[in-house]
Amino acid sequence: MRPKVLLTHPLLPEAMDYLSREVDLELATEEMILPREELLAKIADKQGLLCFLTDVIDREVIDRAPELRIISNCAVGVNNIDLKYAWSRGLLVTNTPDVLTEATADLTLALILAVTRRLVEADRFCRQGRFRGWKIDLFLGQELAGRTLGLVGFGRIGRAVARRARAFSLRIIYYDPNRLEPGLEKELGVAFRPLDDLVREADLISIHASLTPESYHLISAERLRRMKKTAVLINVARGPIVDEKALAEALRTGQIWGAGLDVFENEPLIEPELVKLDNVVLLPHIGSATADTRRQMCFMAVDNLLRGLRGERPANPVSPA
Ligand code: GLV
Repeated sequence: MRPKVLLTHPLLPEAMDYLSREVDLELATEEMILPREELLAKIADKQGLLCFLTDVIDREVIDRAPELRIISNCAVGVNNIDLKYAWSRGLLVTNTPDVLTEATADLTLALILAVTRRLVEADRFCRQGRFRGWKIDLFLGQELAGRTLGLVGFGRIGRAVARRARAFSLRIIYYDPNRLEPGLEKELGVAFRPLDDLVREADLISIHASLTPESYHLISAERLRRMKKTAVLINVARGPIVDEKALAEALRTGQIWGAGLDVFENEPLIEPELVKLDNVVLLPHIGSATADTRRQMCFMAVDNLLRGLRGERPANPVSPA
């Protein structure tokens, strides 16, 4: 008998076709939001779950599925899953690392440039028919060469951002709870700083950490106050790492210069105060959204799921540290 699988939202069509040939597949919804009651009802008889970062897979969901063997998350971040509980129930959990590293690092640089050179504001200005001629002080921005980029979280994506940043002649400092060996820091051309020193020293602060209880509101009102008035904050990781209300206030009052956000505290809701501001660029969580990367994520999530269901070791297990 083919295993029963719940797919919470559509995958790209080729991956969904592949999956539906291998398993008895139920697609929970075509909508962006899957109502919780539907998730709870549809998971009940399934052995496999393929879900996304928007699905909260907590104890209640897991308890509804006595036959569940694997949770395959089509995302690298797994903060949407109660990992400890899943592991305590003997479930396999998998994610989609590596394939999205370069796309997410590209988007980070795109946001850095968009904010420092005020691209979105300038684009709006053109569309509004307000470009009447070249002017010496039109949309003055910030230059990157010689400035300091502070990376908060220095895993795969942080390092890919560092590689790109060097081409812009940025100096790179980083904070990560796991400091690298000094030899490796030298090789990568980066210097470690405690987080409070990093926020004071960096011109650009970019977040590449995973969301855990320890990283919740890591960028707090207090740390925003310590940043330079010219500082730019970029977040392509997870919204709750930044205190979004405090950030809106810091941007509104000119306590920091600008921000670029691909993620929000209560997605898909965006703090209304942020929407009013010109010095922040807002994106709808598209860090990994290139056609190639999303295709690879889909197939990786399907392969992880199928291997787990066959009793094989999936390529990307998320295991207790
Ligand atoms: C995207 O945010 C991901 O975690 O894959």
